[in-house]
Amino acid sequence: MSYIIGIGMDGEYYVGIDLGMINSVMAFTDADGTISIQRWEKGHTKFPSVVLLTPNRSYAGQLALDRKFYEDRYHFENCFKRMMGTTHKQRIYNVDYTPTELFSMILHKMIRTFEEEHNHKLERAVLAVPADFGDAEREAVMKAAYLAGIKEPKIINESNAAAISYRHDTTDFIGKAAIYDIGGGTFDVTIMDIHENGFDVLSNEGSKFLGGRDWDLQLASIIQKKIIANAGLTPKDIDNDSDLRRRILSEAERHKIILDRVDKSKGALLVRGKYIGFEISRTELDNATVELVSKTIKMTNDAIRAAGLTPNTLDRIVLVGGPSITPLIRSMLENEFPNVEITRYDPIHAVARGAAIYARSLFKTKSIKIRSVLNKTFGLKMGIDGEECVCNLLYRNVTLPMSREVVCRPKTDDQEILDVAIYENRATKGELHTPLTRSRLLNTFHIPLTGKISRGRTKIYIRMSADLEGLISIEVECNNKKDTCDLSSDIYLSNEEFSETMRRVRMVQ
Ligand SMILES: Nc1ncnc2c1ncn2[C@@H]1O[C@H](COP(=O)(O)OP(=O)(O)OP(=O)(O)O)[C@@H](O)[C@H]1O
Ligand SMILES: [Mg+2]
Repeated sequence: MSYIIGIGMDGEYYVGIDLGMINSVMAFTDADGTISIQRWEKGHTKFPSVVLLTPNRSYAGQLALDRKFYEDRYHFENCFKRMMGTTHKQRIYNVDYTPTELFSMILHKMIRTFEEEHNHKLERAVLAVPADFGDAEREAVMKAAYLAGIKEPKIINESNAAAISYRHDTTDFIGKAAIYDIGGGTFDVTIMDIHENGFDVLSNEGSKFLGGRDWDLQLASIIQKKIIANAGLTPKDIDNDSDLRRRILSEAERHKIILDRVDKSKGALLVRGKYIGFEISRTELDNATVELVSKTIKMTNDAIRAAGLTPNTLDRIVLVGGPSITPLIRSMLENEFPNVEITRYDPIHAVARGAAIYARSLFKTKSIKIRSVLNKTFGLKMGIDGEECVCNLLYRNVTLPMSREVVCRPKTDDQEILDVAIYENRATKGELHTPLTRSRLLNTFHIPLTGKISRGRTKIYIRMSADLEGLISIEVECNNKKDTCDLSSDIYLSNEEFSETMRRVRMVQ
């Protein structure tokens, strides 16, 4: 769930931010509910999700792209959304940067630009994230928001936000819709029951490793082969030339978009002082990317099934996200779902608009009701028949809120500490256990046990709950003593590292 808000110095604004892998978008509503899209340098509504780091200064967005030509030494970072929530760190000019810090630089720049233009201090905001983001990724986004100065960030799933925006503009639609959201890096499909009183999310499927960038990589490999043949190079020559590889990738994206409208496209790349021409056809692009579209269709079918529906009981598929313009996506969806109306809706701004509309509802009108489902399955590490695995307790695609309890016993007499390890995975309802290798450890809590503890006899109750927003908490009860653990508690910590990171983020231009 998510939303954005600001407390005005000069007016009342409710803000929603779509942090995309390629482009970020900010929308806001004013007191009377008029929705606007924030504009950036050169009047663009898309804020490039890129950062340029130099030994002295850092830049975000369009300025980062432009400054590349003026800096002697720089490091350029993009596509880090896929790394959010991981422990990945990159050492650049003696500083270890996390994806969270890079993302907060983008957020910071967007927020400061908005504040200056509207004379409005932005302290609360709704941030949209892919439905497929798990707990760690959501925490990372929250942390990025704090670092950027948002004191009260809220999270909404991108597909939920797109549905809110769609409903806002298509007031006559009531029914069951699939929001098919394909972005630059992530794919999400959400099945939603849109009714008079609000939105019931029935299921989510998706991948944070499936998006327009994967189309670019497929096309780049075709162009690369043509360049090798036409210029008389070897694959090794290309492997050794990172600048040429980058230019091929960017040509691939350009031709991918051109091929939406024409059957063939011609290009040329400067290789070793000579322009090497190549031609590329829509058929070649389609053949190279049909597998990618098939994956999205499989996930759409999985989501329809998880929602308890069939393709015949689905009323509409709403396409959002930049790559949804691709003709192959549309034609394959039409083939797969011949009885469902397929419609494209504001591919670039839908998510930010929906987040802004939701922000106003949360903070002012309370008019939008969303019932959501849990995005991931959560469980505890347990020993089953001598083998360690995850005992699943709360299942994804089940309506929130929910709670489950298990009883376990101490391993030894006078055991002093119980380790409770919380894992996340993609198990579907009914899969009782999942191997540790297919799960992700979120946190381990060390719970002190008090009172008389007897091996195999004392009962320890572990209750795991997910609230209406999908936030997980754990309660452990033993000998009438209760301990609660909150998975998200550490994001509020302020330590030296946090302050130093914040200092760096706030210097971004
Ligand atoms: N006309 C088009 N045809 C095909 N692809 C397009 C077109 N226009 C834009 N794209 C692709 O859309 C992608 C960017 O879309 P979008 O701005 O929705 O992504 P994002 O929000 O940054 O990513 P994500 O939602 O995954 O975080 C890029 O991969 C771009 O190449
Ligand atoms: Mg997006």
